Amino acid sequence: MADYILVLDEGTTSTRAMLFAIDGVLVASAQQELTQHYPQSGWVEHDASEIWNKTLQCALDVIPKAGGAAAIAAIGITNQRETVIAWDKSSGEPLTRAIVWQDRRTEPFCMELRDGGHEKSVQSRTGLLLDPYFSGTKMRWMLDNVPEVRAASDKGSLAFGTVESWLTFKLTGGLHVTDASNASRTLLLELAGKQFDEGLCDLFGVPRAALAEVSDMSGPLAETDPALFGRAIPIAGMAGDQQSATIGQACLLPGETKATYGTGAFVLTNQGTSIPHSDNRLLGTVLFQIDGKRTYAIEGSVFVAGSLVQWLRDSLGIVEVASQTEELARSIPDSGGVTIVPALAGLGAPHWRAEARGVISGLSFASGKPQLARAALEAMAHQTSDLAKAFAADGTAWETLRIDGGMAANTWMAQDLANVLNITVERPDFIETTALGAAMLAAAGADLYSGLQEAADAMRGKLTRFEPDMDEEVRAARLANWEKALATA
Ligand code: G3P
Repeated sequence: MADYILVLDEGTTSTRAMLFAIDGVLVASAQQELTQHYPQSGWVEHDASEIWNKTLQCALDVIPKAGGAAAIAAIGITNQRETVIAWDKSSGEPLTRAIVWQDRRTEPFCMELRDGGHEKSVQSRTGLLLDPYFSGTKMRWMLDNVPEVRAASDKGSLAFGTVESWLTFKLTGGLHVTDASNASRTLLLELAGKQFDEGLCDLFGVPRAALAEVSDMSGPLAETDPALFGRAIPIAGMAGDQQSATIGQACLLPGETKATYGTGAFVLTNQGTSIPHSDNRLLGTVLFQIDGKRTYAIEGSVFVAGSLVQWLRDSLGIVEVASQTEELARSIPDSGGVTIVPALAGLGAPHWRAEARGVISGLSFASGKPQLARAALEAMAHQTSDLAKAFAADGTAWETLRIDGGMAANTWMAQDLANVLNITVERPDFIETTALGAAMLAAAGADLYSGLQEAADAMRGKLTRFEPDMDEEVRAARLANWEKALATA
């Protein structure tokens, strides 16, 4: 009897294989760190072979804990989005390093397109803005700058894909598909379009023939090559990690909202079945596609969240482990006027200023490790508050915010979010909602449940609630300091 769901959760800094029982309990997991390559300022690359080899190794490590491949009912894949891999379809080998979502190298091309007056129509068709974050301009950069990529395109053997597409190609021994949520981050898919769009491909200079077929996110999507695990295992769920976390938080009805604090912070509000549009520099994106029918989300993407704490740890040595920030933040009544704007990789939503850089303001001789640690955590509420305003201006004010991601384990930060946003914040006891969402998609896709709602009812655990508890003057002073510092970033 196949009792388990195997989730492959391929994030920016590590890849994991996680074994879920069908009631949503995590039974085993294996994890490997990924090498980050920074060849130039603003460039971030991954080795696609390393991603595949480490993901496969993690899967091979956990499958025995289920008692073998026969016990795996289905695989769910979830991944860092927008990161582009170019490979040769005939050899199955990558042609160059993957360009990671954080990479800013295509800003000049984005600017050229913005100056050419394309942003409005691109936004209304794709829901996205002309920013280096998205995949399309990264693909074009590879074609223009990597001779092997251009040569493969000329011979018709080039495959472009985001990470789920690459992993599925390797897992199946050659199927080139991408799920609708990842496809909706490329700038090459219309929000209303079923497949990649010729006109958008022409605008960005990406050959349509190099792109995958866009698929559903739950159902009989593919099967693994039997040679890998000893039997063909169905791949029954696939989603970009932020969409997956939204599903894992059971934001299945319009208005329901989650925020994931991982490397970056990503807030998604379920928008139902009508095509989303933002007048406030937020993104429209596919939340899920099942049986060809789409549900959409509005998204606010913030580029730096947990990576700020990593920087405090690794570059400044302010903490030895990330969790120490909580104790430092609690040791003082306020940050003593210190404010951090974490624009270390430019600013994402709702500002979209690729050229912005980080700021630490309000320093005095009284400022030390606790003030810096506290200011770093406070920056999460400040950045989220800017998103809250943009969502409200778009007519989608949040009633409660469901948080997750590694940084959400920080209880001081969770309470600060409730205080500054002045709404209830909910945190599931099991905060790995990205992986849980992929498990839900796969379980529903393998017909273990009748749909996502039934999977959510069966697989989600308990929650902790944080209620706002901050004086209005304190909140206003915090946000005024933030505004001042932000203006100098
Ligand atoms: O859009 C980028 C996002 O998918 C990266 O997620 O979890 O690696 O911070 P994460």
